Amino acid sequence: MFIHRRRGWEIAEREATPEAIVTGRRALLGAAGAVAFGAAPAEAQWNIFGQRPTMPKSAERPPLAAPRNAKYDPGRAITPEPEATSYNNFYEFGQSKSVFDEAQALKTADWKIELAGMIAKPRTIGVDDLLKQVSLEERVYRHRCVEAWAMTVPWVGFQLSELVRLAEPTSNAKYLVFTTLADKATMPGLRQSWYPWPYTEGVTIDEAMNELAFLSVGMFGKVIPPQNGAPIRLTLPWKYGFKSAKSIVKITFTDTRPVNFWQALQDSEYGFWANVNPEIPHPRWSQAKERLLGTDEMVATRIWNGYGEFVAPLYANLKNERLFA
Ligand code: MTE
Repeated sequence: MFIHRRRGWEIAEREATPEAIVTGRRALLGAAGAVAFGAAPAEAQWNIFGQRPTMPKSAERPPLAAPRNAKYDPGRAITPEPEATSYNNFYEFGQSKSVFDEAQALKTADWKIELAGMIAKPRTIGVDDLLKQVSLEERVYRHRCVEAWAMTVPWVGFQLSELVRLAEPTSNAKYLVFTTLADKATMPGLRQSWYPWPYTEGVTIDEAMNELAFLSVGMFGKVIPPQNGAPIRLTLPWKYGFKSAKSIVKITFTDTRPVNFWQALQDSEYGFWANVNPEIPHPRWSQAKERLLGTDEMVATRIWNGYGEFVAPLYANLKNERLFA
């Protein structure tokens, strides 16, 4: 993703610039103090060198198996594991898609999550402890990045609603805010001070209670690797991928709608709701199609990323909201 404030004399990136060049330019934009965040055009190559990614070092991970929930049939082939684990967005480790080497510095042992705000007992809980209190399952979900690439992943995790119940929100709580790790010692991307670190995201309580909303701790039958958001990340398959915050350290229950990371950078391009809709183009590119990682195939994007039967009712009374940006 890429925020680029366009001046009058510039043409759109998709009219002119392949991703390799856009990506190389980010450092310059950053150095100049510009707000830099670039969505790759749909036809983008695999990485900044235009090569397919190599297998990440973290491919050897401990097994984490759970029964597959067949209710959520993705209707398309699962993305090969090497592709899904080596083409990433994790800006804390850098702006390229090839951050898996850098991300191996993430320290996930004894990971804790602070539960804060409008809940019965604000407290800190270890992920290991949390996992003893929820039921793990495997779900194969489609993932659609706002940059028009997509993948299909068998996640291992549990419904976010289970965590909400454990947290016991008060009746005033209307939103959940997810704050993710910002560790200057291990995350070189944090040196890019024009970004509003830490990376945060938010959903409404109703969205959090929806059966699709998932917290992932594994993928492909193994513990989730650092580059995909270890040890725990959100997975919201009907929304653009930037809503799926990685490496969560705090969940705050609040009555105030949060401003998320990308929204703080460029509200005109990235909003609070960010539900997938092929009919509503991003201001700088079409959202009609998506490129499946691991193939050169472009397929039609579906409204709600194909999950309308589960989530469309959530938004029935919100017609005046900017639901799809
Ligand atoms: N979470 C954090 N903390 N930092 C990020 O840069 N990028 C988001 C999301 N969560 C991001 C993040 C974006 S833009 C996408 S598309 C997905 O993570 C990518 O997830 P993946 O790398 O596992 O495919």
